[in-house]
Order: sequence, then structure tokens, then C-alpha cells
Amino acid sequence: MCPTQLFFISLFFLFIINSSKADNTTSFGYCPSSVCDNGLNISYPFWRLDKYNSDSPQYCGYPGFGINCSQIDSILYISGDSYNVTNIDYSVYSINLVDIDALDNKICPRVHHNVTLDEDLPLKYSELDLFVNFYYNCIHSPNSYNIAYPFDCLNSNGNKSYHAEEEEDFDWTRICEKKVVVPVTKDGFTRGIGAAMVEGFLLHWVNATECVECEASQGRCGYNNSTHESLCYCKDGTVKFDNCNTKENIIALSLSAFGRKFFI
Ligand SMILES: *[C@@H]1O[C@H](CO)[C@@H](O)[C@H](O)[C@H]1NC(C)=O
Ligand SMILES: *[C@@H]1O[C@H](CO)[C@@H](O)[C@H](O)[C@H]1NC(C)=O
Ligand SMILES: *[C@@H]1O[C@H](CO)[C@@H](O)[C@H](O)[C@H]1NC(C)=O
Ligand SMILES: *[C@@H]1O[C@H](CO)[C@@H](O)[C@H](O)[C@H]1NC(C)=O
Ligand SMILES: *[C@@H]1O[C@H](CO)[C@@H](O)[C@H](O)[C@H]1NC(C)=O
Ligand SMILES: *[C@@H]1O[C@H](CO)[C@@H](O)[C@H](O)[C@H]1NC(C)=O
Ligand SMILES: *[C@@H]1O[C@H](CO)[C@@H](O)[C@H](O)[C@H]1NC(C)=O
Ligand SMILES: *[C@@H]1O[C@H](CO)[C@@H](O)[C@H](O)[C@H]1NC(C)=O
Ligand SMILES: *[C@@H]1O[C@H](CO)[C@@H](O)[C@H](O)[C@H]1NC(C)=O
Repeated sequence: MCPTQLFFISLFFLFIINSSKADNTTSFGYCPSSVCDNGLNISYPFWRLDKYNSDSPQYCGYPGFGINCSQIDSILYISGDSYNVTNIDYSVYSINLVDIDALDNKICPRVHHNVTLDEDLPLKYSELDLFVNFYYNCIHSPNSYNIAYPFDCLNSNGNKSYHAEEEEDFDWTRICEKKVVVPVTKDGFTRGIGAAMVEGFLLHWVNATECVECEASQGRCGYNNSTHESLCYCKDGTVKFDNCNTKENIIALSLSAFGRKFFI
């Protein structure tokens, strides 16, 4: 290789390194944790859906985990339904959700839809939940040996509604129009079904351990929705895959790939 060739190659490398320096502060600024007006702290793998097009041009968490904050609530959309996020516990990977439509009437909550977890969302029910079955518009009472609790505030024109903790060996579809199954916390359920609906249920997300390493190295976590890779935005402006202490960053990786191609 002749000296001029080497000179141009070094110039090229210098150019790349300088242009990566140029977004030093911007890339670290991409995914700060953020507090909703109601006090909820949103960090990776959750992100602010309401700020998506302004402050966070990059993906700052898992694709389905955008939270829409407003003055009164902080909504997570799951399978098209809206849930108010009342708490996120980052240390045990749990999130507390309350079904928004069930609370139209807090004295007599009526659930309209099943809670359905999309298969591609990395969420699962907590062991602290139990499932309650609601049966609406039943034309008469179930047999007395069924453990069903009447929901008198929902009775209409002689039709009755019930909730039952477990599926009994009884064909409810013969006497009722609609069945809805919802999770509540076991703890909330001890305070009655109304209180349980107001308190909601818990889900766990798949541990975002990739972020623990990144944050420990003073980085901020992000996620590339097209490659499904977690990213770590570092204070020096570099973007890495796992943490800011590793030497290789994404730009360096593509550079070395380029270098190899160029020299061989
Ligand atoms: C929000 O949570 C993140 C991660 O646990 C933490 O680093 C940050 O300091 C918290 N922010 C506020 C304002 O509590
Ligand atoms: C992520 O990518 C999927 C397709 O792979 C797309 O449907 C979805 O809208 C994207 N999410 C965001 C937040 O842009
Ligand atoms: C967020 O919620 C507001 C209502 O508070 C709504 O107008 C807006 O469309 C929602 N944004 C998204 C991205 O769903
Ligand atoms: C949503 O949850 C927040 C936090 O617990 C609470 O302050 C707010 O009142 C709730 N909003 C609704 C509409 O239930
Ligand atoms: C009572 O429930 C039956 C089905 O279980 C339904 O066909 C009927 O319309 C209901 N009546 C009223 C007044 O809601
Ligand atoms: C809710 O799910 C149960 C099965 O778990 C099903 O029998 C019922 O029809 C569903 N209800 C609605 C309203 O989709
Ligand atoms: C992942 O989270 C579960 C709780 O959902 C916890 O029991 C487990 O120890 C966690 N694993 C790691 C590697 O953090
Ligand atoms: C995400 O991956 C795509 C495809 O490799 C790439 O073009 C894009 O620059 C990446 N985005 C980030 C923020 O790394
Ligand atoms: C990036 O900015 C930080 C301060 O924001 C500075 O300490 C650091 O030296 C800068 N890194 C580069 C590579 O310019």
C-alpha cells in the first residue's frame, strides 16, 4: 500500500470519528427517564408515547411499551384497550394496571372486555393476581351449589349479574348473555370486587437485564425497533450494544467491517 492511499484512508477515518463526535450530546439526550404529570416515573423499557415525535426520535424502549401521559392519567394500550398505569416497580419488573372503561362508574364497576395480552408483547401475569369471571344478563340464578356472588347494582329488568372467582362445573352460557374474565390482585380482592377493580392487576415484563448493565456504566438504554436490538447511549456520544465500558461501539463495528473490506 502506498503512502497516499494510507493518507486518504486516515483522512476518511478521521472524518467518521469527527462526525460521530458531532452528535455527542444529542445521542445521550435521546432517552432520559421522564416523569408524567401524575408522578409516574417512565424509564426503559417504557417510553413516553406522548413525546414520541419530539423529544425521542429514537426508540427508547420496547415497541408496545409506549405510555401516553396526560394530566390525569398515564395510559398503556394493550390489544386496543386502555389501561391506566398506576405504578411501575423497576426493581421487580412489575407494572400495575387499571382498566379505564371499568371505572366509568366507580360504585358499580362493570367490565366490558376481557384483558387480552398480545402474544408478541413481552408481558405476563403476576403470581399475585387471580382471575374473576363476570356473568352478565343472566335470566335466573345458577344452582345453589355454585359459588357465585350476585352483583346487585347491575341487575336490570329481572336479569341478574354475578361474579365467580373460579370456573365452576356449570354451563353459564345457558343462562347468561356475556362472560368477561379479568385479573385482579389477590390482595385487592380481599377488600371486595369494587375495590379490586379500582386497584387493578399486576403484570411482569421480561426482565430488561440488558439495561442494568448499560445504566451501571452511566449509559441510557434504547431499542432499535427494526433490528430488535437493545442499544446503550453513552455520555461520550457513542452508541453501544451492551454497556459504555466496552471498547467497540456500533460505529466502530461498521468501520472495522468497512476496513476489512477495503484492505482485503
Ligand atoms: C426514575 O427511574 C430511574 C430508573 O429507576 C432513575 O434512574 C431516575 O432517577 C428516576 N427519576 C426520578 C425523577 O425519580
Ligand atoms: C416497530 O416496528 C413494527 C414493525 O416491525 C411496527 O409495526 C411498529 O409500529 C414499530 N413501532 C414503533 C414504535 O415505531
Ligand atoms: C394520548 O391521549 C390523548 C388524550 O389524552 C389522545 O388525544 C392522543 O391521541 C393519545 N396519543 C396517542 C399517540 O395515542
Ligand atoms: C391514573 O393513575 C394515576 C396514578 O395512580 C391517578 O393519579 C389517576 O387518578 C388515575 N386516573 C384515572 C382516570 O383513573
Ligand atoms: C336478559 O338476558 C337475556 C339473555 O340472558 C337477554 O336476551 C335479554 O335481552 C335480557 N333482558 C334485559 C331486559 O336486559
Ligand atoms: C372472554 O374470555 C372467555 C374465555 O376465557 C370467553 O368465554 C368469553 O366469551 C370472552 N368474553 C368476551 C366479551 O370476549
Ligand atoms: C426476572 O424477573 C423475575 C420476576 O419476574 C425474577 O424472579 C427473576 O429473578 C429475574 N431474573 C433476573 C435474571 O433478573
Ligand atoms: C436500527 O437498525 C437499522 C438497520 O440496521 C439502522 O439502519 C438504524 O440506524 C438503527 N437505528 C439505531 C438508532 O441504531
Ligand atoms: C462528550 O460530551 C461530554 C460532556 O457532555 C464530554 O465530557 C466528552 O468529552 C465529550 N466526548 C467527546 C468524544 O467529544
